[in-house]
Formats: sequence, structure tokens, C-alpha cells
Amino acid sequence: MSSNVFDEMPASGVFRDESALSPEFLPDVLPGREKQIEQLAMALRPFASGRKASSVLIFGPPGTGKTSSAKYVLQQFKEYAQRVHVAYVNCWQHYTQQSVLAEAARLVGLVVPRRGLATDEVRTDLLQFIQKNDIRLVLVLDEADRLFHKKEEALLYDVSRSPVPIVVVAITNTPDVFEKLDSRVRSSLSLQPLDFPRYSPLELKSILRDRLPKAFKMGACPEEAVALCAAYSAKTGGDARVALDVLWKSGKAAERRGALKVTPDDVRAAMAEHDALNASVKKRMAGALEGEQSILAALEAGPKYSGDLQKELDVAERTLRRYLEQLADKRLVTIEEEQNVDGPGKRRLVRKV
Ligand SMILES: Nc1ncnc2c1ncn2[C@@H]1O[C@H](COP(=O)(O)OP(=O)(O)OP(=O)(O)O)[C@@H](O)[C@H]1O
Ligand SMILES: [Mg+2]
Repeated sequence: MSSNVFDEMPASGVFRDESALSPEFLPDVLPGREKQIEQLAMALRPFASGRKASSVLIFGPPGTGKTSSAKYVLQQFKEYAQRVHVAYVNCWQHYTQQSVLAEAARLVGLVVPRRGLATDEVRTDLLQFIQKNDIRLVLVLDEADRLFHKKEEALLYDVSRSPVPIVVVAITNTPDVFEKLDSRVRSSLSLQPLDFPRYSPLELKSILRDRLPKAFKMGACPEEAVALCAAYSAKTGGDARVALDVLWKSGKAAERRGALKVTPDDVRAAMAEHDALNASVKKRMAGALEGEQSILAALEAGPKYSGDLQKELDVAERTLRRYLEQLADKRLVTIEEEQNVDGPGKRRLVRKV
């Protein structure tokens, strides 16, 4: 009898569950963020016992654990305090006052129609619902700087003056926009800043080590591989997302070799892959025309809708469309079409690669 082809294959892979390295995975501990977690919890605690709490402005560069830490603390806060409700709203998805309020309403269990209500009506409905049900609301505004792009930050004025108990946790990469807020609003929100600095190599190492038992088979990812990934990501910006991505790519490189263990060479291949991606983007960027460059510069802070880009750059719609097509051809931007939230038709979200 001929041998079975499957028996002859090498025992497969280094991963136990590679999804433990994916951006969607929510870790149950956050090494290096103990201080920030404690400070956020301390700011919020009075709110549980009916007192006024400071609102918090969480800021820091990409991949420094802002979203994860806020979600972690607020999950625990909900469990700790019965009357506390948490509405987590991402302002890239909900960037008008109306949309933020409607999403918050939905999250506390109030059904509001998607269309046909004015902002004032949604706000009144939400506040009444909070009052009637004796709710204390923590409103998390992730990517909150987005609200300032179209002057939707008036939401914060309303919240600061609201007679019902609402506390805000705003999260942003760029805290300077908040300086534009009226000083009265700032003081009545008593917006307490909470800094999330870049991770050190040691912190990145702990973050990666914690994922090993879930992500890799026992012994498949040795300490030296972890150390190399941590050092690389510390050098390129202290971003945990990069550290996790390079570790995952290292595992993939080992698998391609049919190996059962990640070696330093696998990590070096992963780092080169990561660099090459950046380098090829940089090369393609250098080849962009002047008009295209200004679009790329405008996208530096984050994705934008084509309508907003058109106003910001003050160009004709046709010109913008032509540039965007060229940029998409050069794979320097991606363009996603999505259904308009506040009207018929489609809108286009443009993102730098
Ligand atoms: N201290 C940590 N421990 C474990 N994992 C972490 C830690 N910090 C960040 N991560 C992981 O790194 C990734 C990025 O974290 P997160 O989304 O919280 O960053 P962020 O600061 O919100 O970034 P951005 O500014 O880009 O929104 C996630 O996959 C998260 O699980
Ligand atoms: Mg985030």
C-alpha cells in the first residue's frame, strides 16, 4: 500500500491560534498601562456613587493602547456600578453630533429613528431617557478629534452643560485640537489629560510575551525572537500594533519554511517585509505629482471623505476625482464607498495606504 501523502507532510506550523496576534484580539491584561488604567479608574470612580467625575482626555501616538485600555477600564466599571452605562462611539464612523447622540441612544437602549429627527430632538430624547431611567452615562468618544473637522465639537458644549449625569472619555492622537475649546467648557467638563506615551522595548517585550501561550505552540517562539520584534517596534515608534504584526509575520515566515520554531532569521525576514512595505510606499509617494502630494499631506492626520477633501483643498470636484484615481492607481490611497448616513447616495472615504 502506498504511503499517505498527509502522513508525509511535516507536522504543521508554529501557531496554536494566530488570531491572538490580530488587531481585533482583546487581551485580558495590558502590560505597561497599569498607571494609566489606575488613573482613568480614579477619575471615574466618584461617578459610580452619584458624585461628579472629571472627564478624561486620553492622548498619545498610534498603537499605545488607548482604545484597549479605555475598553478594559469601562468594562470593569460597568460591572462595578449598576447604574453606569457606557456608550463607546467611534467618531470616524459617527462624526456629527446627531450621529454620536443617536449611537449613544442606541447603546443605552433607546430606539431612535435613523432619519427624520433633528439633532435637538435626539438630544432631548436621550437626556430624558437617562433621567427617567436613573442612568449615569459614560460617553466614550474615540478618535474624538474628528468632531472638530466640521465644528461638531458643540456636542461637548451640550454635554458640559447637561443637567443629567454624563461624563466624557475622549480619545485622540492629536490633543491640540482640544485647546480650541472654550475655557468655560473645558473647566465645566474638567477635562483631565491622560498621556499614553510610546512603549519602551521592555514594555513591548511583555506585551508580546503575554500573547505567546495563546498564539504559539509551546516552545515554537523563543525569547530571542520576541526580543528582536520588541526592539524593532521600539525603534520604529513604540507601537504595539507593529510589534504584534512583526511577530505574526515571523511566525508566517517560519511556517513557509515548514519549520516548527521561529528563528532570528524569520524575524529579520518579517522586519524586512515590514520595511519593504513602508519603503515601497515611500518610493511611490516620491513619484506623486504636486496636486497628489497635497492630497496625501491632507490625509496625513487620518482618512477623510472626498467632499471634505474638496473643501479643504479648494479644488473642483472633477480635478479631485482625477487626482484620487491617479493616487489609487499608484496604490497610495484606498477609496471606500459607503452609504450616506444622513442622506441618499454614496460617499467616498479616502485613506492613505
Ligand atoms: N499594553 C498592551 N498590552 C497588550 N496589548 C496591547 C497593549 N497596548 C496595545 N496593545 C495591542 O496593540 C494594538 C493597538 O492598541 P490600541 O488599539 O489600543 O492602540 P491605540 O492607542 O488606540 O491606537 P490608535 O491611536 O491607532 O487608535 C491592539 O491590538 C492591542 O491589543
Ligand atoms: Mg485607538
